[in-house]
Amino acid sequence: MDSTLTQSELNEASKIKNDQFYTDVITGLSSSPKRLNSKYFYDAVGDKLFQDLMNNPEYYPTNCELEIFSKKTAEITDAIITDGNAFDLIELGAGDAMKSTYLLKYLLAQKAEFTYLPIDISDNVISYLTITLPVTLPGLNITGLNGEYFHMLEKAAAISPRRKVVLFLGSNIGNMPVNDALEFCRELRRHLSPGDMVLIGMDLKKNPKVVLAAYNDKEGITKRFNLNLLERINRELNGNFDVSKFDHYPTYDPETGACKSYLISTVDQQVTIGDKETISFLKDEYIYMEISQKFTPQQAAQMAESAGFKQVDEFFDSKKWFTDAIWVAS
Ligand code: AVJ
Repeated sequence: MDSTLTQSELNEASKIKNDQFYTDVITGLSSSPKRLNSKYFYDAVGDKLFQDLMNNPEYYPTNCELEIFSKKTAEITDAIITDGNAFDLIELGAGDAMKSTYLLKYLLAQKAEFTYLPIDISDNVISYLTITLPVTLPGLNITGLNGEYFHMLEKAAAISPRRKVVLFLGSNIGNMPVNDALEFCRELRRHLSPGDMVLIGMDLKKNPKVVLAAYNDKEGITKRFNLNLLERINRELNGNFDVSKFDHYPTYDPETGACKSYLISTVDQQVTIGDKETISFLKDEYIYMEISQKFTPQQAAQMAESAGFKQVDEFFDSKKWFTDAIWVAS
């Protein structure tokens, strides 16, 4: 178990993580066009900024999904419990677990026999959850897993042979381009057995102005959220980005449902990372930072089908801006 790791083993693990971060950053910024992986948004500062964003009314997805979870708790939970056999409730990218807390509370009240296994790439998130949740939810069995989704899913399968219910909320699936998202769902299916379930949250296509406002908030939190990745490179990889020389450019294409965000270099400039790498930027050159794909309900069901699941239920908020669907592995 993790608690028995020695300090030198922990140092080694964090060094390997940092090596991967360095490699991905250098590869991305040496590509044409330049890109960074949005999974690196979430260090301690990024977690806090995303938290602020979720509390910002312009960022609607969180409120919509919270509405679904608070108003449809019983229906969703009953669908998950099925025959009442013990199961593992695995959450991919648990964050603050605010939405899942609705389910967890209800499951505990129903005396459902389950273990909650939150998976997150942020070790801040996992240590926070494993400390706080057992206090707010007495009786909860929790095993936190810090790492990449599929690696941790394998770990979860090795811990117990019980039926799996996977939560993949918040439209995290939208952080992948459509083809990668489908490949991800297939990979998820390969890690599951027939009868296992997925509860997946997806942000839906809607008025383009509403979508764009969510990723271009007036307070500038999204901008800082993007710029924080450059600052994280400064902090962890000894970079010298001057974030005042980058502008945030969010876009939404109503045709494809792709909401993308870029950072634009406002001047010709050179940035060094560590003592070996220099990256040159032309004025107006962009770094592709993130995609937040929006779907139609039909696309969601189609995606389930193509990945080897059957969609058995779908829940919507009152505005129909967001959906949570239940997929069963065929
Ligand atoms: C956490 C990936 C669902 O794409 O909406 C919020 C992250 N990025 N604002 C999203 C995010 C900019 C968010 N996800």
